[in-house]
Amino acid sequence: MEKEKVLVTSALPYANGPIHLGHLSGAYLPADIYVRYKRLKGDDIIYVCGSDEHGVPITITAEKEKVEPKVIIDRYHEMNKKAFDMFGMDFDIYSRTSLPVHHETAQTFFKSFYDQGILKEKKTLQFYDEKAKMFLPDRYVEGTCPRCGYEEARSDECEKCSSHYEPTELINPKSKITGETPVLRETSHWFFPLGKYQEWLENYIDEMNKKYGWKDNVLQQCRSWFNDGLKDRAVTRDLDWGVKVPLENSEGKVLYVWFEAVLGYISATKELSAKKNQPELWRNYWQDPGTKYIAFIGKDNIVFHAIMFPAMLKAWNDGNEDKYIYPQNVPANEFLNFEGKKFSKSRGWGIDVIEFLEMFPADPLRYTLAANLPENKDTDFYWKEFQARNNNELADILGNFVNRTFTFAHKHFEGKVPKRGELLPIDNEMLKANKEFPEKISALLEKFKIKDAVLEMMNLARTANKYFNDTEPWKTVKSDKERCGTTINISLQTVYTLAEVFYPVIPFAAAKMFKMLNAEKTDWFSAGEAKLPEGHRLNKAEILFRKIEDKVIEEQIAKLPATEEEPGKPKEITYEEFSEIDLRVAKIIDAGKIPKAEKLLKLQVDLGSEKRQIIAGVAKFYSPEDLIGKKVVVVANLRPAKLFGLKSEGMLLASENKDGQLKVVEVDDSVEIGAKVK
Ligand code: 2FM
Ligand code: ZN
Repeated sequence: MEKEKVLVTSALPYANGPIHLGHLSGAYLPADIYVRYKRLKGDDIIYVCGSDEHGVPITITAEKEKVEPKVIIDRYHEMNKKAFDMFGMDFDIYSRTSLPVHHETAQTFFKSFYDQGILKEKKTLQFYDEKAKMFLPDRYVEGTCPRCGYEEARSDECEKCSSHYEPTELINPKSKITGETPVLRETSHWFFPLGKYQEWLENYIDEMNKKYGWKDNVLQQCRSWFNDGLKDRAVTRDLDWGVKVPLENSEGKVLYVWFEAVLGYISATKELSAKKNQPELWRNYWQDPGTKYIAFIGKDNIVFHAIMFPAMLKAWNDGNEDKYIYPQNVPANEFLNFEGKKFSKSRGWGIDVIEFLEMFPADPLRYTLAANLPENKDTDFYWKEFQARNNNELADILGNFVNRTFTFAHKHFEGKVPKRGELLPIDNEMLKANKEFPEKISALLEKFKIKDAVLEMMNLARTANKYFNDTEPWKTVKSDKERCGTTINISLQTVYTLAEVFYPVIPFAAAKMFKMLNAEKTDWFSAGEAKLPEGHRLNKAEILFRKIEDKVIEEQIAKLPATEEEPGKPKEITYEEFSEIDLRVAKIIDAGKIPKAEKLLKLQVDLGSEKRQIIAGVAKFYSPEDLIGKKVVVVANLRPAKLFGLKSEGMLLASENKDGQLKVVEVDDSVEIGAKVK
């Protein structure tokens, strides 16, 4: 079989917190399994990854802790590197984007785009904190939502009512850094004209899909971006922390984190080349059309890897002599949840990788996650499933077969491979399975159907146990020793094949199996043939998997917070809590526009016992006349707020129709003004 040259990358995790099991399932374990398999196959493959060390969340964490961002990235870079190591990730390099080689690489790309005249400069208005003397990224500004009055809304979106708006509409904006009111100041940014590359991108994805079969989730997301039409994207930000914009008069400007992060794969490969003392080695992968490039990611990264990154590489290739290859496939996974809910650090839901691996070995975790990868839909990690996969599959099927085989070999054949005597059909069947399973598993792995491949690995172990049972060596050892020897010979050969095919998923146990067999890893396709010669000395058996007791798992489950809220799913409340909301029928008696507030109307409502003013975000959907006379529902005990300097005492209930228009909730005319809604 022809050897391939392959470049594999996994999304660079932010050095802003510890990775959890969900990360592993998304972009890391599948890539590691693929890479280990390719290595066994003898392909020329490199696997690069590293920390993504820029971006606003890192600076926010640093400010919260009152330390420099460098402290944060150093901490989490080391922590995540250690976690990956404990988990058995087989990276060629785990780099970081704070390295000079990365800054240079990213700046060179930017400069090339600039020199080619690809980038467009545009002026925009942005919040500026005069006290901190800095422009504030969206996440640094908080204020009152112009739609619902929520006081902790973000600069461009409200968590409460999930509306999006322009930062200029935010009421009472406050800087999260100094608490001061920021001013809107003009700033200019460089934009990458993604739209220009749309046609090329559509063709590229189409061609790759036809040749290599891309996953549906990836194609769907790309199509939806294409349908909306790709737009210019700002690739610079007003921030201190990041890769400096390499142009004159660009003080205080850095490259947008996503623009440079994807280039981090290239920088990481350069670092690897330097470490190997072959500074040009990276070109051998990135710039050789004979290389197959596979980018493993989670679904939240699709647009950056399937659209943005290829467009950037294309823009480079259009203007430079040295040309990059494009991702041949972007096998993005969906998400892994934890015990039925999303991972959440703040709510204590989930588990860090290091914490996990301090309690349990890596292999059972790798196997459980691999058997349950979110390849086509979100999946869950359950403690009980982890226990069952470990006890009932790894220990009872694989471990048991290996153990029985070795026990026989040591007890009855002096720890040596017995002679293979005359072969019966059942033996030939088992030998055939030894050849066919690696082929079948290989075909699945090549197509990134890793979950199916893992199932087949365990099926080989199932087949092996059945062979052992059906040949009944515990009987033949007494009645026909040579026959028993043949069974054990073939079983040992099968252990060899199992070690080989399971190696990508459970490398630690596989290494023990090779050691027990006193044999080297062989190459994938001769796994089923690599005959252990008669008389070959075996090493003593080791325990591959220890059973996990119920009590250990129950302790873990008990550690989870008892009442959990799920984001996006409303929290359960009691009737008492509901009845605290004073909902009343009111009649709109007057309505008018508010100067400069395009989305708001000023309403006077009659609540029967009193009249009130309410500022409502419905101006886009109703003219004042439409509303006058309507009987509506009002939250009468909402804390009064000031919007555009006007007092608002209450809130109208409204809901969105299918066109995204807000419609106020109206009440049957027979209901009296002031009536309670319950
Ligand atoms: O989503 C994330 O965790 C990003 N840090 C992934 C970046 S992938 C690539 F661009 F580096
Ligand atoms: Zn809101």
